[in-house]
Amino acid sequence: MATNTKFQAIRGTRDLLPPETALWNRVEQTAHAVFSTYGFGEIRVPIFEQTDLFARSIGFDTDVVSKEMYSFADRDETSVSLRPEATASVCRAYIEHGMHALPAPVKLYYLGPMFRRERPQKGRYRQFYQIGAEVLGGSDAPAIDAEVIEMVMAFFAKLGLEGAKLDLNSIGCRDCRPKYVELLRAELSKVKEKLGPDSQRRIETNPLRVLDSKLESEQGIIATLPRIAAHLCDPCAAHYTAVKHNLVLRGVAYHENWRLVRGLDYYMRTTFEIIAPGLGSQNAVCGGGRYDGLVELLGGHPTKGIGFAIGEDRLILSLQESGKAPAAHGRDVYIAWMGEKTYPTAVRAARALRGAGFAVELPAVEQKFGKALGHADKLGARYALILGEDEVASGQWTLKTLADGTQAKFTEAELLQYLRR
Ligand code: HAM
Repeated sequence: MATNTKFQAIRGTRDLLPPETALWNRVEQTAHAVFSTYGFGEIRVPIFEQTDLFARSIGFDTDVVSKEMYSFADRDETSVSLRPEATASVCRAYIEHGMHALPAPVKLYYLGPMFRRERPQKGRYRQFYQIGAEVLGGSDAPAIDAEVIEMVMAFFAKLGLEGAKLDLNSIGCRDCRPKYVELLRAELSKVKEKLGPDSQRRIETNPLRVLDSKLESEQGIIATLPRIAAHLCDPCAAHYTAVKHNLVLRGVAYHENWRLVRGLDYYMRTTFEIIAPGLGSQNAVCGGGRYDGLVELLGGHPTKGIGFAIGEDRLILSLQESGKAPAAHGRDVYIAWMGEKTYPTAVRAARALRGAGFAVELPAVEQKFGKALGHADKLGARYALILGEDEVASGQWTLKTLADGTQAKFTEAELLQYLRR
């Protein structure tokens, strides 16, 4: 490789820069605050795990596992993968740490990067960030499903996200779904010739995924297919009805979408997705559902489970598009010091102001007055503290309000008091 090669971030990955990172921090701090009011504790799981953990949990035939994972052989030849999601890891950790012995249900949340080798576009990246939560153990009471959804909506409301729409479905259980899938397969086989190659293949591998198709030419056919709601077993139908009732009780509006099947294999019963405005085609800002068999599948006790993951990149995009992003963070005070002798005072003033919680810019090199004020302006500073030799000698410091150009004199103690107001 030539020595003058310019390095670039890998396709589908990106740098998050200030001031945007301030919004990321606000979103994450809000997640910590809101989720803890619902009794959730944070879990941090590794960025990579054994490939088999994801393959078994998410399903071998899913797009995520068959096409999108970043997998590689570790030096001891074990196949490991960058995590494409975190539900599998959380279940692995639940088993590994014997969390079934904790008071049920165990409520955990996480945030961090996930990796999927998808085709990058607006709102779709190869390294993206999720904020997710899982409820494990205890009962499968429909109130749990509803409360988890309520929590996402409360989080979005706290952030000022407007126009989020909840889609809801039930995809049945091990008893009723296979019968429905067979029925669907039979119906799809009759119209096979009219379907595209992806859907034709899915008639065999995973007919439910045909319902997910966005192909214009398939929409008319899909509309005529049997719907799962009419084929749920009694316990699943009762569960679904109760989830809806519990959402109404909580004032959470939903839209039933019988075609919402989700792209990961571990789901059963409740599935949901939340769509946010301003995102274009990648408009699902959150996806989740119930996965009662997953812990057992991974070698644990039979365990109820439900959770969701929010796409943080998309959440941020939607907040930005709706003008909910906070203004760029400037500086509270810019210290314009002039003359070698004033520098020790400037350093002390900077430390005192920062100690009191103010954002302070202390230029490392002396600048001419006009240039210093120009610099302060560019940084979005509210005030310039002017420290010339006169100010330092008299102990009367000059504070200039940059918005209107007014000036006032303060002693050090008065200045802190004034700024605190
Ligand atoms: P998922 O639907 O695959 O579910 O992903 C959840 C959310 O992550 C999506 O709705 C989307 O906002 C975001 N997301 C997914 N892929 C990308 C991407 N390539 N670029 C940007 N954002 C993306 C899960 O991952 C499940 N683990 C959710 C869950 C938790 N179910 C139960 N518990």
